[in-house]
Amino acid sequence: MEIRPLSPTETPPYDLLLLADPSRPMIDEYVKQGKCFLLEESGTVIGVYVLLQTRPGTVELMNIAVAETHQGKGLGKKLLLHAVEQGRAGAYQTIKVGTGNSSFAQLALYQKAGFRITGIDRDFFTRNYEEEIWENGIRCRDMIRLERELP
Ligand code: COA
Repeated sequence: MEIRPLSPTETPPYDLLLLADPSRPMIDEYVKQGKCFLLEESGTVIGVYVLLQTRPGTVELMNIAVAETHQGKGLGKKLLLHAVEQGRAGAYQTIKVGTGNSSFAQLALYQKAGFRITGIDRDFFTRNYEEEIWENGIRCRDMIRLERELP
């Protein structure tokens, strides 16, 4: 199992990226601007994340996803810690991430990795996504913003 950058000639793993973000235009935009990493097992891509510099000293985790058949085995955590290391290696001071008010597993993942909640972007999902998003029986409306310092 290895984590490696997406090569410039490779097609991004849209099936995985769309698990985390239903907007293909938004995915295309941040994959183009940012750095995409793939988690590969025996030549098959089973995980992905995308990091984007959003301001000097700050990177944002724009997307992180693990194939449904491989979830719950610690791979999301592995990718997240790799993203944190990439942030450190790039001499960034802060890594940020945003997730939905209904995304309990994701909120657990980020907080267990040392991210703290910094704010709520109310109605982010109602404003930016045409389709309604529902998870855990709750409408996803607000973006919970979290960040971790990179000492
Ligand atoms: N309550 C408490 N902890 C929970 C939890 C819950 N409901 N769900 C997950 N966790 C914890 C796990 O126990 C684990 O912590 P631990 O290491 O202390 O046991 C941690 O979260 C990470 O679990 P892991 O197995 O590494 O996660 P994963 O491989 O399933 O990947 C996602 C997590 C979010 C990347 C994966 O579920 C996914 O791809 N989801 C769809 C895409 C998505 O929503 N991406 C994020 C967009 S913001």
